[in-house]
Amino acid sequence: MVYHPPRIPSSEITPKGVYLNRRTFVAGAVAAGLLPSAAGASDFKVADSRNMAGDEAVTPKESVTTYNNFYEFGTGKEDPSRYSGSFNPRPWSIKIDGLVKNEMEIGLEDLLSSMPIEERIYRMRCVEAWSMVIPWDGFQLSELLKKAEPLGSAKYVAFETVVRPDEMPGQSGVFQPLPWPYVEGLRLDEAMHPLTLMAVGIYGEDLPNQNGAPIRLVVPWKYGFKGIKSITRISLVENEPPSTWNKAAPNEYGFYSNVNPNRDHPRWSQATERRIGEDKGFFSSGRRDTLMFNGYDEVAGLYSGMDLINTYF
Ligand code: MTE
Repeated sequence: MVYHPPRIPSSEITPKGVYLNRRTFVAGAVAAGLLPSAAGASDFKVADSRNMAGDEAVTPKESVTTYNNFYEFGTGKEDPSRYSGSFNPRPWSIKIDGLVKNEMEIGLEDLLSSMPIEERIYRMRCVEAWSMVIPWDGFQLSELLKKAEPLGSAKYVAFETVVRPDEMPGQSGVFQPLPWPYVEGLRLDEAMHPLTLMAVGIYGEDLPNQNGAPIRLVVPWKYGFKGIKSITRISLVENEPPSTWNKAAPNEYGFYSNVNPNRDHPRWSQATERRIGEDKGFFSSGRRDTLMFNGYDEVAGLYSGMDLINTYF
């Protein structure tokens, strides 16, 4: 696989050890009542940085953290940033079970200290025809799955979001927009692909609640809804697992959901997209062409021989 050189010179990347020590210090100071809460600190160290969005500008943090889809906190784009303040992502653990040699329940702190955290700048294309460029901090899902040692019979990976109606107003209201928990899935080879990331941060800081704290999936060649947030369970399974949007509207959202400008959504075109936070100027349409696999052509081999328009969309 060809990696583009980092867009940001590594000399400009803040050593995350500084954040780490700062957090420990700040936590003590907060406990002692000397400081307000420690916004902006992170619990991980970033070892490496890879820009995989070419020369496209990173989307402003303000947009990435206020224009969200996270139905557990409401269906409006600003609901997640407004109504996720009571969500408590710590302590946290993820259970890995099913067809594995080593079933495990791993705490977030252990994960953060044992995984090589790197920055990856990826395009994110939502199925609603908008997109962003986001600097994620995370580790390859393959590294975590290797710890669990999938059995030969494991063919798919199923993911589950936490259910906490007390902290997630979208799960407790009279109107329930989706069945809970939010679930997603990948084929095992998709999950093991080096581009598939478990993100724990953005812009070098802990993931904000609205972006899926404390840990979420990022699959940059698929529509954004595959990127399930606030994951609490990962199961290795034999058969294709259910996915929330496919259950909600099977004729609109397939299991694969690879970004594909040639397969329109039944209600809108997928040929172009609107880049959030970008001013394209008065004479421009403000839209850019959507690329097959969101521009991540290196995954094409995963789908050779499959009909990605009619059958395996
Ligand atoms: N995960 C859960 N648990 N609940 C959700 O509603 N929305 C999905 C995905 N993950 C969603 C979710 C959709 S539709 C998108 S486009 C992305 O999260 C949005 O991620 P962002 O808000 O960090 O940009």
